[in-house]
Amino acid sequence: MNIVKWAPIVVAVFVLEYVGSFTFAASPPADNYMLACGSSQDVTFLGQTYIPDSAQSSFSLKSQLDSVVATSNSTAPFPIYQSARIFTSTTSYRFNIKQEGRHWIRLHFYPIPKRNLSSASITVVTEDFVLLHNFSFSSYNGSYLFKEYAINVTSSSLSITFIPRNNSVAFVNAIEVVSVPDNLFPDQAVAVSPSGPFNGLSELALETVYRLNMGGPLLTAQNDTLGRTWENDVKYLHVNSSAVNVSVNPSNIKYGATVSPEIAPNYVYATAETMGDANVANVNFNITWVLAVDPNFSYFVRVHFCDIVSKSLNSLIFNLYINTDIALGSLDLSNQAGNLDVPYYRDFVSKISSDTNNLTVSIGPDTSADFTNAIMNGLEIMKISNDARSLIGLLSVEDLLVLPPKKSKMGIIIGSVAGGVAALLFIGLCYFCLITRRSKEPQQGSSWLPLPLYGNSLTVTKMSTTSQKSGTASCISLASSNLGRFFTFQEIMDATNKFDESLLLGVGGFGRVYKGTLEDGTRVAVKRGNPRSEQGLAEFRTEIEMLSKLRHRHLVSLIGYCDERSEMILVYEYMANGPLRSHLYGTDLPPLSWKQRLEICIGAARGLHYLHTGAAQSIIHRDVKTTNILLEENFVAKVADFGLSKTGPALDQTHVSTAVKGSFGYLDPEYFRRQQLTEKSDVYSFGVVLMEVLCTRPALNPVLPREQVNIAEWAMTWQKKGMLDQIMDKNLVGKVNTASLKKFGETAEKCLAEHGVDRPSMGDVLWNLEYALQLEETSSALMEPDDNSTNHIPGIPLTTLEPFDNSVSMIEGVNSGTDDDGEDVATSAVFSQLVNPRGR
Ligand SMILES: *[C@@H]1O[C@H](CO)[C@@H](O)[C@H](O)[C@H]1NC(C)=O
Ligand SMILES: *[C@@H]1O[C@H](CO)[C@@H](O)[C@H](O)[C@H]1NC(C)=O
Ligand SMILES: *[C@@H]1O[C@H](CO)[C@@H](O)[C@H](O)[C@H]1NC(C)=O
Ligand SMILES: *[C@@H]1O[C@H](CO)[C@@H](O)[C@H](O)[C@H]1NC(C)=O
Ligand SMILES: *[C@@H]1O[C@H](CO)[C@@H](O)[C@H](O)[C@H]1NC(C)=O
Ligand SMILES: *[C@@H]1O[C@H](CO)[C@@H](O)[C@H](O)[C@H]1NC(C)=O
Ligand SMILES: *[C@@H]1O[C@H](CO)[C@@H](O)[C@H](O)[C@H]1NC(C)=O
Ligand SMILES: *[C@@H]1O[C@H](CO)[C@@H](O)[C@H](O)[C@H]1NC(C)=O
Ligand SMILES: *[C@@H]1O[C@H](CO)[C@@H](O)[C@H](O)[C@H]1NC(C)=O
Ligand SMILES: *[C@@H]1O[C@H](CO)[C@@H](O)[C@H](O)[C@H]1NC(C)=O
Ligand SMILES: *[C@@H]1O[C@H](CO)[C@@H](O)[C@H](O)[C@H]1NC(C)=O
Ligand SMILES: *[C@@H]1O[C@H](CO)[C@@H](O)[C@H](O)[C@H]1NC(C)=O
Repeated sequence: MNIVKWAPIVVAVFVLEYVGSFTFAASPPADNYMLACGSSQDVTFLGQTYIPDSAQSSFSLKSQLDSVVATSNSTAPFPIYQSARIFTSTTSYRFNIKQEGRHWIRLHFYPIPKRNLSSASITVVTEDFVLLHNFSFSSYNGSYLFKEYAINVTSSSLSITFIPRNNSVAFVNAIEVVSVPDNLFPDQAVAVSPSGPFNGLSELALETVYRLNMGGPLLTAQNDTLGRTWENDVKYLHVNSSAVNVSVNPSNIKYGATVSPEIAPNYVYATAETMGDANVANVNFNITWVLAVDPNFSYFVRVHFCDIVSKSLNSLIFNLYINTDIALGSLDLSNQAGNLDVPYYRDFVSKISSDTNNLTVSIGPDTSADFTNAIMNGLEIMKISNDARSLIGLLSVEDLLVLPPKKSKMGIIIGSVAGGVAALLFIGLCYFCLITRRSKEPQQGSSWLPLPLYGNSLTVTKMSTTSQKSGTASCISLASSNLGRFFTFQEIMDATNKFDESLLLGVGGFGRVYKGTLEDGTRVAVKRGNPRSEQGLAEFRTEIEMLSKLRHRHLVSLIGYCDERSEMILVYEYMANGPLRSHLYGTDLPPLSWKQRLEICIGAARGLHYLHTGAAQSIIHRDVKTTNILLEENFVAKVADFGLSKTGPALDQTHVSTAVKGSFGYLDPEYFRRQQLTEKSDVYSFGVVLMEVLCTRPALNPVLPREQVNIAEWAMTWQKKGMLDQIMDKNLVGKVNTASLKKFGETAEKCLAEHGVDRPSMGDVLWNLEYALQLEETSSALMEPDDNSTNHIPGIPLTTLEPFDNSVSMIEGVNSGTDDDGEDVATSAVFSQLVNPRGR
């Protein structure tokens, strides 16, 4: 029956081992192979020298008959297309790899005339990935084919295997295998549709499908430090009049700390497409590029920006869409990049469904911007290998490499082609032995080794089992730096009952906050980052680093985090009594006494004072409000949500310049006008909090008559008349020491001063509030609740009050935390986390 069918399997071995790589000008890549296949001489193309694939003495071709050299005298489009190597059976090139990590694999194909190569079917695989399958020029428009892949090589060799279709041939004209700098491709990117983090990229193969230099000329390997090709974008524009090109002198481009010229050369950033002056009624339109892609694949999308058009900062704000999904909303380019002419890029992953073969990328102006414009400088689209570890189709390497017959067939087979089988098994065995021996003697790189096909599949299985350890890699980097406890995602799922919505405590700009219970019964608040919030993983890390250094009795403390599976989860102490605001109004909770309110304000003031002065560089909270002051079960107040705070001005500066953020009603008018952030902005917001605590009404209440809408204005008019008691919480009437109230009112008034310089520091505020508390306590001790004058309270031991919270300090590490009261923060058990409504 099918007895002899598999018999003609030919063991073709074509092994290449170059001992050295070829010298290159400045900082050559660790591995740098450039081969002109089938050529008899060196070939120079685009400034690079390709050497013949038979040049090295370590080269070995087991079966000469299986490969044919073809050269052409005819006019090939490029010099490297004058020769080819033609394979009549499965054949491998094998490269010694000096440095593990991503490598470019670049393949050049050109069907040399007279050789009838147009009908050849080409399939190319590495040990792990299918690069090309059943490609034929007969069903292809172009005259030549160039393919570029970026593959993470995790062993000391790489084989590239060419598989011809039955009764046909495969061929290749040139091969490049070149090291890629480690930081060029990330392990993580942001997925759009469905939105979420995408990680594990480093284990997947990438194939370049588009690399566009927006508004600029073709850039070839000569113009790019990494030998990449960038083409002009115009032919992909959906409406070509929607865009106009702009350019500046490439030397104007200022690379910052985060983007190096290796990400993209300055030629890319020096040109761009911006919004055309199209004859359209609506100036608000998108520029859209339509890029044909294969369905059912995910694509890595890298977008390059550089503001080469604006005259001033913060004037170019726009949106980026990938396939109608918003990828970047209100991107303030100069703010993100840090300045004009500074490169900036972002990475996304977009999954293309099975019913479309287009990927669209659009930019459009943001309606909030001063100027209606949008810009893009460069765009790279790379196909990501699928579950079959293939970049084309659903067949895996194992499927394509014809495997030896199964044991069940052995009997018949041995009967017919016993000799062949024995030979095969013998070679396989030898190879296996060699491999085993080799792995024990790692430094035997220079001797060549025949590489039977079956050895390949052996390697494949071995590698695919050892590469299953994803997920944990990212947490190691954080865990090793002593940043609080690391939680596995499973622990978080268990603690929150799989993010049960009934445990939801609040939703904020960062994401959702859930109540959780750890295995040991500790209650926690779990803040799960929304990957589409502005915070990327880098910011998340910064936040963890910052939070874990801040330990104070009046700051909500971070217990741990989880960054497994690209999650951005923070675990905080649980604050049983929730936000201060819910104890003031809008709920049925019992009203707080005056003394409780003073103690809460003092606690919050201590927390803020610590933020401003406790660290080497002061930290400005930026969003002080009654929902960000949380109460633990004994009503101890703690300031929350300082993770997004800005560090304050350095010694030689007086302010930090920044886009206005914060919550309306609490916003420092000076900060709003001048966009200069100082600690005094927090003091203003705290003044609003004080008024809110006294009057138990929201900071802004638009329902009220105009003069009453804003609590800061409304309370100030009464304070100036000395009649604050007229608008205070009715529950307090008759229960507040007048002197204490007076002190409180004066303190709030000073906080709300128009100019920051006239406002007290948080330390002064704290001192004054403590004084107000002393007045209240002394008066109640004297049973004089209605005392009208401070003079009636002699002998207040003011000297024992500490205006400054001297004992606060920055704590390095996690478990050594102490705070102002000498308590161990780590043991203060149970707290809660906030409702953080929008408005940041
Ligand atoms: C090109 O053609 C000439 C004669 O037409 C021949 O002598 C020469 O060897 C050819 N070169 C190659 C590389 O085939
Ligand atoms: C080229 O190959 C195709 C298919 O293999 C075959 O039909 C055709 O006759 C060949 N042409 C020449 C000139 O060899
Ligand atoms: C390969 O492509 C040819 C046409 O180019 C097609 O006829 C053939 O079925 C394909 N084979 C496989 C295995 O996909
Ligand atoms: C491919 O070839 C066909 C027919 O020759 C032509 O209509 C089509 O425009 C070509 N496509 C491209 C992208 O060149
Ligand atoms: C080659 O032919 C055999 C038998 O017809 C078939 O099983 C195998 O899939 C074919 N290989 C390719 C690459 O088409
Ligand atoms: C390559 O893969 C290994 C193992 O998965 C990983 O540790 C390494 O970071 C990857 N390198 C790059 C450049 O992605
Ligand atoms: C830029 O636009 C001008 C005018 O439309 C055009 O002549 C020029 O070729 C374009 N440059 C590039 C690099 O596309
Ligand atoms: C790219 O390099 C070539 C050769 O050095 C040069 O002629 C060309 O002008 C360069 N292109 C650009 C855009 O600089
Ligand atoms: C727009 O593109 C079409 C086709 O590519 C071309 O014919 C036309 O001249 C282009 N128009 C402009 C203004 O560039
Ligand atoms: C731009 O494109 C996005 C995505 O397709 C769409 O939601 C938005 O409305 C477009 N904007 C304009 C002004 O057409
Ligand atoms: C896409 O994948 C789905 C499910 O895997 C499959 O049913 C469908 O045929 C694929 N479509 C294409 C165009 O490959
Ligand atoms: C892809 O885009 C082209 C050009 O806009 C359009 O003609 C085609 O219908 C699109 N295809 C799909 C599947 O959306």
